[in-house]
Amino acid sequence: MSDSLQISFVEFAAPSAGAMVVFAGASSKLGARTTEALAGAGALVGPAAETLAFTAKTMSAMDLVRPAGLAAERLLVVGTAAKKGDKPLDFFALGGFVAGKLPKTKAIQILFEAPEDAWDAAAAADFALGFRLRAYKFTKYKTKKAESDENGDVSIELKIALDDAEAARRAYEAREAVAEGVELARTLVNEPPNVLFPESFAEKAMELEKLGVDVEILDEKAMGKLGMGALLAVGQGSARESRFVVMRWRGVKSKKAQAVAIVGKGVCFDTGGISIKPAAGMEDMKGDMAGAACVVGLMHALAKRKAKAHVVGVIGVVENMPSADAYRPGDILKSMSGQTIEVVNTDAEGRLVLADALWWTKENVKPKFMINLATLTGAILVALGVENAGLFSNDDELSARLSEAGKATGETVWRMPMGPAYDKLIDSKFADMKNSGGRHAGSITAAHFLKRFVGETPWAHLDIAGTAMASPATETNTSWGSGWGVRLLDRLVAEACEERAAS
Ligand code: BES
Ligand code: MN
Ligand code: ZN
Repeated sequence: MSDSLQISFVEFAAPSAGAMVVFAGASSKLGARTTEALAGAGALVGPAAETLAFTAKTMSAMDLVRPAGLAAERLLVVGTAAKKGDKPLDFFALGGFVAGKLPKTKAIQILFEAPEDAWDAAAAADFALGFRLRAYKFTKYKTKKAESDENGDVSIELKIALDDAEAARRAYEAREAVAEGVELARTLVNEPPNVLFPESFAEKAMELEKLGVDVEILDEKAMGKLGMGALLAVGQGSARESRFVVMRWRGVKSKKAQAVAIVGKGVCFDTGGISIKPAAGMEDMKGDMAGAACVVGLMHALAKRKAKAHVVGVIGVVENMPSADAYRPGDILKSMSGQTIEVVNTDAEGRLVLADALWWTKENVKPKFMINLATLTGAILVALGVENAGLFSNDDELSARLSEAGKATGETVWRMPMGPAYDKLIDSKFADMKNSGGRHAGSITAAHFLKRFVGETPWAHLDIAGTAMASPATETNTSWGSGWGVRLLDRLVAEACEERAAS
């Protein structure tokens, strides 16, 4: 986000300077108006493609520098030729791909014309969204910012030239709101734990009020009154006070519109507590609040695009530290639900935070359904790697909706099994349950722990430990914190609550 990026949609024309981007289909075929705009330089494309063995396959590009006969200083020819059986062209990924090909380029004009058939305004808007998210950088703490190195900030002007610029501009409005939400989530995950701790995180959430979200912050005293003994135990060893934040977006007037709730794990730093983690890689545990970051990013997106939906976001924000005051293995906690929990591992803290957050949400919001996001287990990385988030649910319809939204956005989920035999693994000798079922099926027993706090509410748990941070770069993300889930849940809300899908 340190680069400033200005995106506009303009009438179809070739630029008089900067970089010009055109699209080529099979045999480097260009669209009719693109050919016209290239004028004399068009004759260079065929021979250049031959020399460079450019076949115009999707997600490939050929760069021509200072082509004779063209005002632009650079011509990027982007392939869009599909092979048999290929999925439809993914304009979101294509936008990211083009941004990746033109780093540090200050003026870019895209001639958004299909080599064959036609592309609509929504395609141009998706392209713009992908471009923008690829351009995100987190360089806030780099003090040496030479323009020439990768920490330098550039102001980029991106113009997307197409027939119906006005329609594309309108289609981009909602996506711009989503882009802001994803960027906010990424930044919250990237921020260090000395800057982003429970209180400062809650203050960040409070900023949503500017967009018309109603935000309520509960401090430890208020949580104590409510009996949130599980959440409070996790934060008890930290010098930082815990917080509980409720964000309400009412995009529908009708009093009857039942809310949907999204709940996030917000462990601002997870040392493991007394069951302390090994030192190597512990710094990554600043991202253990990615579930909560996604909720805040989503609320931003929904409010900014004025989603016609009633959505309540809930986050439990704590820091898990070892200290003389810390909770111990062996402690028995009383959760808000009244159920008791034997702590067998203080590093299984996320489920304790969520136990009270889910119960509070079920009792107070009484949502149509609730979805929680959490960087809950390392075991989900063993099972699914970084390709899918783990999906656990007591509801087939909600699961199907999430799977669909996952396919549509590329933020994919994989449903994992649940059942009574797994549930038994967290029964405790001394209390109603224990907070870890041991090594086997670690992600599933964690999900069963959560399930004990949702009652009959249709519920889904997304274990995002593999997707929210430190995942490999993609066409649309090179940031450590990925902002995973904002686009998925924005889509889900559009499909499940609003009249029509965001097109
Ligand atoms: N925050 C971790 C899970 C995690 C691991 C997130 C790797 C991202 C990357 C969680 O609180 C945790 O420590 N889980 C334990 C559970 C165990 C103690 C039952 C784990 O996964 O080892
Ligand atoms: Mn932990
Ligand atoms: Zn954790």
